[in-house]
Amino acid sequence: MKANQIPFRIKSLEDYQRSFEYSQEDPEGFWSSIAQAYHWKKPWEKTLEWDFQSPSVKWFINGQLNITENCLDRHIPTQGDQIALIWEPNDPQESTKQYTYRQLLSEVNKMANVLKDQGIRKGDRVCIYLPMIPELAFATLACARIGAIHSVVFAGFSSNAVADRINDAQCAYVITSDGLNRGAKQIPVKSVVDEALALCPCVQKVLVVNRLNWPIHMQNDRDYWYHERLNHVNDHCEATTMDSEDDMFILYTSGSTGKPKGVVHTCGGYMVYAGYTFANVFQYNPGDIFWCTADIGWVTGHSYILYGPLLQGATTVMFEGIPTYPDAGRFWQVIDKHNVNIFYTAPTAIRSLMASGVDHVLSYNLHSLKLLGSVGEPINEEAWHWYHTHVGKGKCPIVDTYWQTETGGIMISGMGGIHPQRPSYAGFPIPGIQLMLVDAEGKEIHGNGVEGNLCVKFPWPSILRTTYGDHERCRINYFATYNNLYFTGDGARREEDGMFRLLGRVDDVINVSGHRFGTAEIEDAINHCTKVIESAVVGYPHDIKGQGIYAYVILEHDENANDQTRDEIIESVVDVIGKIAKPDKIQFVRGLPKTRSGKIMRRILRKVAEGETNALGDTTTLLDPTVVDEIIATRL
Ligand code: WT7
Repeated sequence: MKANQIPFRIKSLEDYQRSFEYSQEDPEGFWSSIAQAYHWKKPWEKTLEWDFQSPSVKWFINGQLNITENCLDRHIPTQGDQIALIWEPNDPQESTKQYTYRQLLSEVNKMANVLKDQGIRKGDRVCIYLPMIPELAFATLACARIGAIHSVVFAGFSSNAVADRINDAQCAYVITSDGLNRGAKQIPVKSVVDEALALCPCVQKVLVVNRLNWPIHMQNDRDYWYHERLNHVNDHCEATTMDSEDDMFILYTSGSTGKPKGVVHTCGGYMVYAGYTFANVFQYNPGDIFWCTADIGWVTGHSYILYGPLLQGATTVMFEGIPTYPDAGRFWQVIDKHNVNIFYTAPTAIRSLMASGVDHVLSYNLHSLKLLGSVGEPINEEAWHWYHTHVGKGKCPIVDTYWQTETGGIMISGMGGIHPQRPSYAGFPIPGIQLMLVDAEGKEIHGNGVEGNLCVKFPWPSILRTTYGDHERCRINYFATYNNLYFTGDGARREEDGMFRLLGRVDDVINVSGHRFGTAEIEDAINHCTKVIESAVVGYPHDIKGQGIYAYVILEHDENANDQTRDEIIESVVDVIGKIAKPDKIQFVRGLPKTRSGKIMRRILRKVAEGETNALGDTTTLLDPTVVDEIIATRL
């Protein structure tokens, strides 16, 4: 097969197989063929240079582009009046907003001009701390338009967590809102930013979107209302020319050690991969309405609310609310309201809606649905069947998409409706992805019907390039465990038929409702509570969240192990990270199982948290084996 015969859009199993085989033999030829489908201001001169030792990966070298031209301008001649973005508010009584491609371009340009007017230039870092309102989409795309590096921070993080992220990236500018809606609650946002900024000398200006008409504090010469700045700009803004390998955005994510790190993605490769995976995994056809329920504060929202769909000229839905407000039928009501064809959500949302009973789903017809997707953690069989039967009415294929913040786009999945599907199996590698399973020593595990640690042996266009400001950390985290391989941190099984099943993290990362936290990060937050001497955190199976957070805590000797102390510990975590990282269980203990060298044996703590107290394995190497008996006796 020749490179010019590789289809951008996979329409059959045969297309997939041809693309996949070609991509394994000639990945550069493969990706340079796929990349032709985009608008480049200047073609690249060389497809790829890489070395996983440094690591250094460069795709489409010396190519020039702007991703927003590919997302917006490119579609204007043929589909300027088609709806690009449908925004559904938190409150079903409030009106929906819709933007055609022409209108979205105009809004993005206005926001881009506001940013330029305020001194933001190519390469500057902009922190976006906004709820799921249209201005979040405008702001993110506006940064990309002018070559500013966006760092979107989920609006549920605490002021301390925001401050850490702002300082790490040295952001000079923050975009936020007065407050946000979350179900029946209204939550302050600007005051969180105000608290954060007390710790962030790098920030010069703050742009504030009016969402709730709240009276808020505006600091002179620092804080500006977005609606007022709009009076000073027009809606034309030339897209800044970006090099393929210019930084495009930073997104913070947790690892097994230290504070969250800023994963960096670059312009060309991210664009090529986000558009390709969107088109193929979801089998998007012109006119389809696509809804991804993630928040743009996570990578799923970046790649599959904004960039992927817009690159393909899709209609994408953005939802401000939560699945259970005003009731547990809200998702299904929105699907019927907007005739959503492709629906992409997380197992934790499915499980929580399952728990509210099937009647909510049954009161909507959901006729428009063609394809369903799942992301963030393995989807258990029970949730898969419920999703398939009650939401998909038995007729919609489900794509279980495995990927990571670091991978920029989906890595393992079925191509919707094309591949066979099996509950709890993510499926097959995306063409261009070269997976490898290895044992603890890094030796390749060949063949099928095998399990191991999941690695990738060849770069793909949207692999992370670095962790912001600390390249060595990127190397150690992802490229140093096994020589010449990118290590995902996940275990996986390859079945006889080549299908992949993900087996969970093999490092000290826990996945709570599809969000990643390092155990060390939560322990650090718990230890901020002055009553605490030491703590150890593990994940345990949780019916709705997938994994819950189980904390073992040693208190100062004269402190009381009571509910008030528990509340103070939780408060501490909310303060350092945010509500999303609240421990589910806190067990007070007098000692932790440690080896003679002082390392906490998490394996034992995990078993106890899981209730498997009979299978603790060898405890004789512990410094003090009796602490285990006590921990078992007082387990929650
Ligand atoms: C980790 C990445 C990228 C989307 C949102 C999460 C787990 C993600 C699946 C899946 C099994 C999954 C992995 C991965 N994960 N999707 N379909 N099946 N596990 O992004 O916060 O970067 O977390 O989520 O453990 O390493 P993230």
